[in-house]
Amino acid sequence: MADIDLVRLARSYFASKVLLSAVELDLFSALGAKPLTEPEIRERLDLHPRACRDWLDSLAGLGLLVRDGDRYANSRDASVYLDSAKSTYIGGFFLLLNFHYKNWQALTSLLRTGEPGFQGAANFDVLYAEPSRVTQFMQAMDGAAAAVGPALAQAFDWSAHGSFVDVGGARGNLAAEIVRAHPHLAGITFDLPQVEPAFHEHMEKLGLTDKIKFIGGDFFTEQLPRADVVIFGHVLHDWDDEARTALLKKAYDALPPGGQVVIYDALKESAPGAPDTFLMSLNMRLITRGGSEYTEAEARSWLTTAGFGQIELVPLSDPDVMVTGRKGEK
Ligand SMILES: C[S@@+](CC[C@H](N)C(=O)[O-])C[C@H]1O[C@@H](n2cnc3c(N)ncnc32)[C@H](O)[C@@H]1O
Repeated sequence: MADIDLVRLARSYFASKVLLSAVELDLFSALGAKPLTEPEIRERLDLHPRACRDWLDSLAGLGLLVRDGDRYANSRDASVYLDSAKSTYIGGFFLLLNFHYKNWQALTSLLRTGEPGFQGAANFDVLYAEPSRVTQFMQAMDGAAAAVGPALAQAFDWSAHGSFVDVGGARGNLAAEIVRAHPHLAGITFDLPQVEPAFHEHMEKLGLTDKIKFIGGDFFTEQLPRADVVIFGHVLHDWDDEARTALLKKAYDALPPGGQVVIYDALKESAPGAPDTFLMSLNMRLITRGGSEYTEAEARSWLTTAGFGQIELVPLSDPDVMVTGRKGEK
């Protein structure tokens, strides 16, 4: 008998796609108000009868729905995290996973050729060409950064600093967590100009329009705004080593003496023995031209090359780890 359940592992994508399609079809929001029967769900979501019941029963078997007689209701987790009417919704990130799902078909070819998947080469200009995709990606980034924001607000010593810029900060969710926890800070979100309307809409909703400023630009062609702390969250993993070092050098130039750079990503050693960060790294290799997760040693070497000292590591929310570096006093 095998030590691991090989057959279950081999077909684990069945379960993943059952969940991702449920989020894509917004099933859990449809069940938010009250439990529904299978025909009612089909009518609501405009589904064909052939596969619907098997799909709903699979979701029930996975603990995402609860079946009572002929009615299906959200389980507690689905109700809290996957009903888009709730502020605790994290389905935006799942929509992104669903978008990237096809890329995994290209894994064998990536291994042979080094080329990313057919939707690879994360090209933000192409991604943002459709305004609806900007919104979807921003929701996904909110989901991806949901746990990191509060952790970063606590784990870093903000007391000695007066300002920060979150580079590639999307629609400002992380910046919002930081200024809420540390109201003395002036925050800037720096991101591509296509993100600006989504940023303003979001800040208005959060009541933080006066607290966080948006500066639009391309971090490869422009200088970074000056601030006491420069943050790169889930940004370095999108790019190759050369770009990472170039971005860290720009951060160094934007900081005053004593200023700090903060990076966070899922460092490869963050869960020793567990495959998650390696799988996430493979995902980055499939969806970008040069990106991947990386090791502590790599992060240290780019920071040192860019001029930073006092490099420190602090785990944030699993699997993200914060790596900080300081610009020396003159
Ligand atoms: C993977 S997201 C990270 C979002 C967020 N910081 C987080 O922690 O989840 C990368 C962000 O970098 C931004 N970005 C990509 N290329 C950029 C560029 N050339 N200049 C400025 N921002 C860029 C994207 O718009 C996106 O918001």
